[in-house]
Amino acid sequence: MLIIETKNYKEMSKRAASLISDIINDKPDAVIGFATGKTPLGLYKELVDLNKKKKIDFSKVTSFNLDEYYPIKKNDMNSYYTYMHKNLFDKINIKKQNINLLNGETKKPKEECSSYEKKLRKNKIDIQILGLGVNGHIGFNEPGSEFNSKTRLVKLSPETIEINKKKLNDRSEIPWNALSMGIKSIMSAKKIILLASGKNKARAIKELIEGKIRSDYPATFLKKHKDLIVIIDKEAGSLLRK
Ligand code: F6R
Repeated sequence: MLIIETKNYKEMSKRAASLISDIINDKPDAVIGFATGKTPLGLYKELVDLNKKKKIDFSKVTSFNLDEYYPIKKNDMNSYYTYMHKNLFDKINIKKQNINLLNGETKKPKEECSSYEKKLRKNKIDIQILGLGVNGHIGFNEPGSEFNSKTRLVKLSPETIEINKKKLNDRSEIPWNALSMGIKSIMSAKKIILLASGKNKARAIKELIEGKIRSDYPATFLKKHKDLIVIIDKEAGSLLRK
């Protein structure tokens, strides 16, 4: 595991963007795994900027997203479909047909997940971007998720539901379930970068870096990955042993 501590959120986002642009510049048809949430918003701004300045070309890139609420309409303002289009896809030159998102509208979640998993097997992810839940979740692999888990329908933990309520816009009823890539699907990526920023992530980062591998803290499974880069800011790293 390589740990990069940056001074603040902006620097963390810039470091992540330069890593991703190196990968795409080396391999224009790279497969990128994207995450949602607050953490990667700065990174997505940087990527949009680099694309505008013609420093990255997304025209041959394929994308996969980690997760989606379930059930949810694509055009719901809180869907990850909306999030990704608003914050990234509509602003860069990625081709619509190269975008892969789990379909929160499906009536057949099992089939949706297994066909996503098949697509993932055919298109190995070159770099997977991850955020980190305060309870150690990655994607929506909540505490208790197994190392061998694949893309599936999951129940969100009460803690995640509470946190998400604050993140969601204008919604009285929030989704209790999600479709999520599993730990095994995430671990199959060639390279993983996990981003964390702010004091509220300090405990989770300490567990990830110094804690034992265990399923009640799913992010610790990442320690088994041979090419994991953790990019944090000072606040997220504030509880680490020096
Ligand atoms: C999002 C996702 C989640 C978030 C995590 C952190 O696609 O899978 O695991 O990365 O909940 O969210 P933020 O960045 O909002 O703190």
